[in-house]
Amino acid sequence: MKSKLITKWPEKASNRSMLRAVGFTDLDFNKFQVGIASTWSNITPCNNHINVLSKATEFGVNKYCKSTIFNTITVSDGISNGNLGMKFSLLSREIISSSIETVCNAQSFDGLISIGGCDKNIPGCILGMCRLNIPSIFIYGGTILPGKNRTDIVSVFESLGKFYSNQINEKELLNIEKNSIIGSGSCSGMYTANSMAIVAEILGISLPNSSVQNAQSINKILNCVNSGKIIFNLLKNNITPKKIININSIKNAIKVISFLGGSTNCILHILSLIECLKIDFSLNEIKKFSNNLPTISDLKPSGKFFISDLINSGGIQKFLKFLVEENIINGDTLTITGNTLKENLKFIKTNYINKLLKCLNFPLKKTNQIKILFGNLAKKGCISKISGKEGETFLGKSKVFNSEEESVEFIYKNKIYSKTIIIIRFEGVKGGPGMREMLTPTSALIGVGAQKNIALITDGRFSGGSHGFVVGHVSPEAYEKGEISVVKDNEIIIIDSINNNLIFFINKNTINQRKKNFLNYSKISFGILNLYRKISLDSSKGSGFNY
Ligand code: FES
Repeated sequence: MKSKLITKWPEKASNRSMLRAVGFTDLDFNKFQVGIASTWSNITPCNNHINVLSKATEFGVNKYCKSTIFNTITVSDGISNGNLGMKFSLLSREIISSSIETVCNAQSFDGLISIGGCDKNIPGCILGMCRLNIPSIFIYGGTILPGKNRTDIVSVFESLGKFYSNQINEKELLNIEKNSIIGSGSCSGMYTANSMAIVAEILGISLPNSSVQNAQSINKILNCVNSGKIIFNLLKNNITPKKIININSIKNAIKVISFLGGSTNCILHILSLIECLKIDFSLNEIKKFSNNLPTISDLKPSGKFFISDLINSGGIQKFLKFLVEENIINGDTLTITGNTLKENLKFIKTNYINKLLKCLNFPLKKTNQIKILFGNLAKKGCISKISGKEGETFLGKSKVFNSEEESVEFIYKNKIYSKTIIIIRFEGVKGGPGMREMLTPTSALIGVGAQKNIALITDGRFSGGSHGFVVGHVSPEAYEKGEISVVKDNEIIIIDSINNNLIFFINKNTINQRKKNFLNYSKISFGILNLYRKISLDSSKGSGFNY
């Protein structure tokens, strides 16, 4: 037991003395020591209830092992969106994973259960587990319920656009603000948190059927309690994340996320996971592998339904069983139960009928909504989410901005009638720094009703709640002298999601000539952001710290 480094008698009497002061008894020193990483915080509804879940987990674990709860940080993407706080969002993923790694190693924990409920703390928890590679479980905090009149956080962002374009008045906006987010849990659509929770379950590191679950529910509490026995079995058999996650489980996760119309951020986090686990699977290979996967779900942001609707209509277990039985996903991948994905689904009845999930033969969209594009504007790739409602290709003239704020001001102040491609650059992981999400401009476009005429390209990211013709993660980014840095106003660009191209209609010599006069649009960067700028990998490798 690794924990003997702090519990062995008599050598570690001083350590044990300190541990007794925080509740340890004689028996506890001979048990597996399990850290419970809680992302509890009341800065955001996504994590507001996690202390309850960590206490339930503690109760479950202490029947078999000795647990210790520790906290890590969280930020709220919903609150930091549209302001400078968003620069710290992706960075928080790295801080969370690093802090979990730090506490577990310093405390010599034998095992880990991490509980997350927001966009960045979920991948932060998963990356921390993988770097530690000790027996581990991820518990998802669960989804929030929709607000009044089936509203949510994205409704509020989009209502703001309607307010500024005089489609609704102040009283109506206030009403939406007051009634859209009620209770605790992660944003309610197939946005990043719910997408990443499903990724975790498919990877095999969460309990079966725990990813599509309401935050404030008995089932969620039961997950936490039941994780005690599971972590004990993982510890006894030394089953670690690296024994569970492999190329097959990653491919399974990408497939399911694609079918369900998940967030583009999932690809970024999966790239980071691939980097962490040294799995050989590039962005280009993900493109080839995932390009023709159909989208079958009618879930928000581009569909009508919330995750709570999916729960009410039976969840995703039947769908997973169907995918396994049809050999669409690999059922032989190992999971934390010690069983394979297929074995976990043994008792699920096979008839797959769900009004939210269409048949694979009659999908809502024949090809993947998440499109990975390459071209002379993104030589190392970029990621878009194109539902198809807006068409499959977009040809327009560029309108260039060097920050998110400038673009939002333009969208609210101008009527746009011709096909325009808004470029928001110097928002990449180094340029921003921090690779902000552009939910404010995309929501503004929808709010002012200009989404048909406008596409958006950025070296920043998009929120899982964004929809429209949006292309993000452009790599190399502008700060790294990527081609996006040389675009001027009124130049022709085509976003071609049929052939997966992002083409800038300008010759190579002109690009090279302009690069000679490259002017870095330097943004204020301070403290930890400076460090992030210095040590981050580019977005084609997941934008994590370069360890
Ligand atoms: Fe936390 Fe959306 S802001 S899940």
